[in-house]
Amino acid sequence: MRTASRTAEHVALFRALETRRGRGLFRDPYAILFLPPRYRWLVRAATLPPLNHGIARLIDHRYPGGPRRSAVARTRFIDDLLAEADPEQVLLLGAGYDSRAHRIPGIPTTYEVDHPATQQAKRRRIRDRDHVHYISVDLNEQSLAEALRKAGFPRKRTAVIWEGVTNYLSEEAVDKTLRDLTATTGKGSTVILTYVDRAALDDDTEWHRSVRRVGEPWTFGLHPNEVPAYLGERGLVLRGDMSTQEAARRYHTAEPAAGFYRIAWAVTD
Ligand SMILES: C[S@@+](CC[C@H](N)C(=O)[O-])C[C@H]1O[C@@H](n2cnc3c(N)ncnc32)[C@H](O)[C@@H]1O
Repeated sequence: MRTASRTAEHVALFRALETRRGRGLFRDPYAILFLPPRYRWLVRAATLPPLNHGIARLIDHRYPGGPRRSAVARTRFIDDLLAEADPEQVLLLGAGYDSRAHRIPGIPTTYEVDHPATQQAKRRRIRDRDHVHYISVDLNEQSLAEALRKAGFPRKRTAVIWEGVTNYLSEEAVDKTLRDLTATTGKGSTVILTYVDRAALDDDTEWHRSVRRVGEPWTFGLHPNEVPAYLGERGLVLRGDMSTQEAARRYHTAEPAAGFYRIAWAVTD
């Protein structure tokens, strides 16, 4: 990845649109800052209620399978998991244009780790805050543990949010990163991660084609039934695992979200 992540931009678009809805699942007033002019225009047009639902429907029609709804449901669900974890610090891994460090009142010190290209693009668009620390790492090429050590990351009870990222990494990078997380975070830390069901990794939907088109093909997935042992071997005890479709149902949304796009959460043992 030589340029800022385009899929991070798509997620920001979905969050900005959700924010304009009357009864959205969350409010992310920062998401619009990260959008190119054509997407900003779309979000502004969506302020008019009939257009908002129309634009959402259009996206869902063009990309069936629920990328928009999955991103929205997972964002809200992870917000709820984060509140439950009540950590001493937060680590956003592959932070993209996630604005939790800015939009969640009272969030503790937050470390944002991302690929240098995306992180630079983000920092050009949002102002620095004292409680937010940035660390550039290419997780496919570099050691997370080493980067955290250099940044003075303290070994405290941490909530790690690894949202929408594992599917873009190599198997070795996911393995090594999980081991680094258990080695560098404090006792009772929570790791929240999303993953794609391996059975759907090589499907050929418009969603799959669109990520390939922007140069970010999905490269990693797990079978849900292997997740408890997979995480266990890396020092984590699985607490829950659900599809974004189930997460969306929790919030009584009738719109489609993907069954194969999943959220798992675990604690360090
Ligand atoms: C779909 S975006 C998700 C961003 C964010 N977590 C969110 O949910 O809004 C994917 C993110 O993974 C990051 N990423 C992809 N490959 C990476 C790598 N090799 N090392 C570090 N980050 C990477 C991208 O920079 C981007 O921020």
